[in-house]
Amino acid sequence: MSIDAPSWSRAQRRLHWTTAALVATGFALAWIMVGVSTDDLLLKFLLYQLHKTIGLIVLALVLLRLLLRGLRRRPAHDARIPPALQTAAAGMQVCLYGLLLAVPVLGYLVAATAPGGIPTLFLGFLRVPHIVGADPAWFAALRPAHRLAAIALVVLASGHALVALYHHGRGSPVLTRMWRRAA
Ligand code: HEM
Repeated sequence: MSIDAPSWSRAQRRLHWTTAALVATGFALAWIMVGVSTDDLLLKFLLYQLHKTIGLIVLALVLLRLLLRGLRRRPAHDARIPPALQTAAAGMQVCLYGLLLAVPVLGYLVAATAPGGIPTLFLGFLRVPHIVGADPAWFAALRPAHRLAAIALVVLASGHALVALYHHGRGSPVLTRMWRRAA
């Protein structure tokens, strides 16, 4: 679906770059937090809470993006890009949205099923209810699923960025119009 708008709206552009920055930060933080020794329990706890907060913000922003996408839709495709590549790009975007939803939901379930009943504190103080309780068997299955989905998300998002840079280099406005309003 497309409209004649030459560029994405300001809200859509801000949501795009904020989501990208938060996913990159949450991903990097994940490897740091699991590596922190339990001797530094407070630091480890705080890093986990920061990771969970970032992930929950990503989930909220993605839901908002999907709402805006439904309401405002998107600018027209660049006619210079062949239809087959446009279809591939659309497929990639569907996968990206799927992973952007799946990764935080899996993360939430990992946190909820983790042994020890560690709370999820949004921004460090707002307790997020866990809809399921601690369950070691589910935790053991969900943990690698969350990690793998997060790696797939970052790999796909990197591919998406490289493709955008490639088209930008060939004079397409696809990257510029996600950065600022088209003239
Ligand atoms: C964009 C969002 C997210 C990304 C990119 C992400 C990424 C990751 C990655 C790569 C790991 C792997 C660390 C490892 O197991 O070695 C991880 C672990 C973890 N994530 Fe997320 N995550 C996200 C959202 C969330 C959310 C929303 C929550 C909970 C509310 C969460 C909770 C956890 C927990 C508890 C672990 C550690 C599991 C363990 O103890 O090993 N994540 N995350």
